[in-house]
Parts: sequence; C-alpha cells; structure tokens
Amino acid sequence: MSVSKQKFIVSPGNKLAGEVSVAGDKSISHRAIMFGAIAEGVTRVKGFLPGEDCLATLQAMQQMGVTIERPAKTEVVIHGVGMRGLSAPDGAVDLGNSGTAMRLMMGLLAAQNFPVEMTGDESLSARPMERVAKPLREMGVVIETTEGKPPVKLLGSDGLKGFEYVSPVASAQVKSAILLAGLYASGETSVLEPAITRDHTERMLAAFGVDVAVDGLRATVKGGAVLKAADVDVPADISSATFPLAAGCLSATGPVVIPQVGINPSRTGVLEIFDLMGADIRLSDEKYVGGEPVATLTVNPAKLKGLAIPPRLVPLAIDEFPMVFALAAVAEGETLITGAEELRAKESDRIAAMVNGLQALGVTVEEYPDGAKITGGRVAGGVVDSLGDHRIAMAFAVLASVADGPVEILNTANVATSFPGFIDCMQTLGLSIESGASDL
Ligand code: S3P
Repeated sequence: MSVSKQKFIVSPGNKLAGEVSVAGDKSISHRAIMFGAIAEGVTRVKGFLPGEDCLATLQAMQQMGVTIERPAKTEVVIHGVGMRGLSAPDGAVDLGNSGTAMRLMMGLLAAQNFPVEMTGDESLSARPMERVAKPLREMGVVIETTEGKPPVKLLGSDGLKGFEYVSPVASAQVKSAILLAGLYASGETSVLEPAITRDHTERMLAAFGVDVAVDGLRATVKGGAVLKAADVDVPADISSATFPLAAGCLSATGPVVIPQVGINPSRTGVLEIFDLMGADIRLSDEKYVGGEPVATLTVNPAKLKGLAIPPRLVPLAIDEFPMVFALAAVAEGETLITGAEELRAKESDRIAAMVNGLQALGVTVEEYPDGAKITGGRVAGGVVDSLGDHRIAMAFAVLASVADGPVEILNTANVATSFPGFIDCMQTLGLSIESGASDL
C-alpha cells in the first residue's frame, strides 16, 4: 500500500458525457465490516468498495479471527464473532492509508482483552491520533501514540466508563470511535459535536439493533449493547461521484449521469456548494437503500461562478474540497474558502497540495491558514504533485479536461484506496487519461 511511482497523463478535451457507476461508499463499507465482525450472526454486504482502505479493514478483522468471504469483488459475507469474540492479532495491524480504519478501530478495540498495535503508511503515520486517544483515556483506556501519531498501541483497560465527550473537532471519526468504545462502557456515552458530521455510524448501529439516541448534535449509546447481524446495501460514494459530477459541470456537452449515489444529508454539502457555484445538477429516482437515501444525479454543463463558501458547509463536504478548489480555478471571479483548517490533517495537507498544484498550472491563489482565495481564469498545462493523496490526484485529473495543454499528475497510486475504477470511469466519459510509470 506504499505510494509507488505512478502518474496520470491527461489531455484536454471537454466533450465529456455519459452514464457511469461509481464505487461503493468508503465510510459505509468500513463500518459494515467492523460492525459485522462484532455482531452476532452473518452479515452480507452488497456494493462493498473493494478499495485498498476498506480491504485494510477487512484484513485487520481477519487477523483478529473473523471469517470473511468474498463471493464477488463487491460482495462480502462476515461471520460475526460477537462483542467479545475477537482474538489477538498475530502481529501489528497495518491499516495502510486509512485514517477511518485506524480511528474507528481505536474505539472498537479499546475494550478488548488483548493488546493491539496499529500502524500505517507514510501518510497515515503523519496524521493526528490524540484526538481519539485523549477521550478514550478519559474512559479508562490505556493507549499510547507515537508523539500523537501512529503507531498506536492499545494496552487494555480495567473497564471502560461512559461519559459525555464535548468534541472540539467536527469529526465523524472521533464521534464514531467514542460511540464504539461506549458500547463496551458502563452507563451511557455521549458525544456532543461542534457541527453536524456524517452519521453513518449512528444509522448502521441502529440497523444492527443498537439503541442510539440522537438529539441535535448529541449522539448517545448505552454500554452492554449487542449487535445483531444485518444485511448492508452500500450506495455509491458521493465523494467519488464528485469527480464525474465536476467533469459534467465543466463539459461543453454533457450530460453526465451517475445512478444510485448516497445523498445522506450529512454528506451532501458538495451538492449545495456546486449549486451555489451555478452548477446544473438534478436528482431523480430518489429512494432508500439499506437505511441510506440515494438518488440518480444528472449534471449538465453550466457557467460556474466564484463565491465565499459558507464555512458551515465545510464538515458536510469535507472530502470534496480538493474538487471545489479545482473548480474555483475556472469559475468566474474569486472563490473564498475559509474555516477549513481540517483539510490540513487529511491524507495530505490538502490546502497546501491544492494551492501548490493550482499555482503550478498558472492559477492565481492566495493561501490562508484555514483555506485560500482562488481567482478563476484559464488553467495551463503542466506537472502537478498529488503528494500521494487520492483526492488531490482525481481533482487535478478532472480539472485537466479544461486545461490549455496536457497535465501530468504525479504519485497517483493511492487513487486505488477509494476509487479503484477511476480511470475507467473517466475514460467512459471520454476523458483522455492514461496511467503510467513515473521516475519522479
Ligand atoms: C470519515 C470521516 C471524515 C472523512 C473521511 C471518512 C468517516 O474524516 O474525511 O474520509 O468515515 O468517518 P474526519 O472524521 O476526520 O473529518
């Protein structure tokens, strides 16, 4: 799962159109494996994302004694071992590039009666873990980080105590980790968030029979809960759909159609931001799949305009900001992004990665500690380093469709962490994109 030397070469061409399916939701796929593992009974998952991140979670659960079958690439059958049925792994658990896997497992494994060491790749090893470790310590978990980062060692506890955690950071990973630990704690455990974040943990725990009380920004679980296996239908990931959606906005022809995309309101900030920028996106065939709302998205070309993005939309579109930065580069006028300092704690420092990449393509950008000001105009061809960050790579690949010359995007191997079919998807729409080896 290391960042090997791969690059994308994209030639401009803005007649993108067609219908494309995007891969399953990453957040939901991780949770389906973890919850299925500690449930009683057999959990069948359809539409599973076979990306490296979710496969890291799957392997970790196998390492801890869970039998998991893969009847098809996107189908997983998990033979749950119950709340206390996991066993000690045979060595450190390597979670690759996945912050979700590591942070959620810190909570899930906090009360197990064996020690666990969790490691990750270079990017994950640079990401903050105290945001989860600190509240877990308050619950009674003995946990060590390495100067706040991975490797993380869970060293057991003398019993977890439920508490109310007032989270200073709008993070679904922090919320989920504490709630999962709370399933094993005495009394009630609540997390009070500063803003709404994705609620897949709350929804899926409820589908697995757990009593989860949600009151505004507070979510509460009771200790001693038991998960009952449930089948999970994973919708297409709106975070992956963002790339063909943006391609449809930039296309001179369109339309681009993406079926069965998850439109959970805690994830649709991107639709609101694109709408504020003047995009023409329509939703149809709205229904529920596995407790999550889905819809077919149809996007037609539109003239985009810059704006000050309301900071309240940051947590609701947190993973979509690389694409928002890129669209701003060709929108009319200035786009102001503020209140987005969390982007610096992602797979890369996404503010720096986007600012540097856009500047390399001749775009006028001013960097702020919590965002940037981007002046829309033309985008030149050139070379951009994605820093091994999947979403930076994909955002520049889409922007390259309207550049004045070919764009080379370096360090693209990690696109397989979240969207293994990305190249096929973009080629189906008519983008000239190739993956090649790179010396850089
Ligand atoms: C995720 C939560 C978000 C998001 C990540 C997936 C999740 O992270 O960026 O890609 O599945 O809970 P934070 O909780 O750190 O904001």
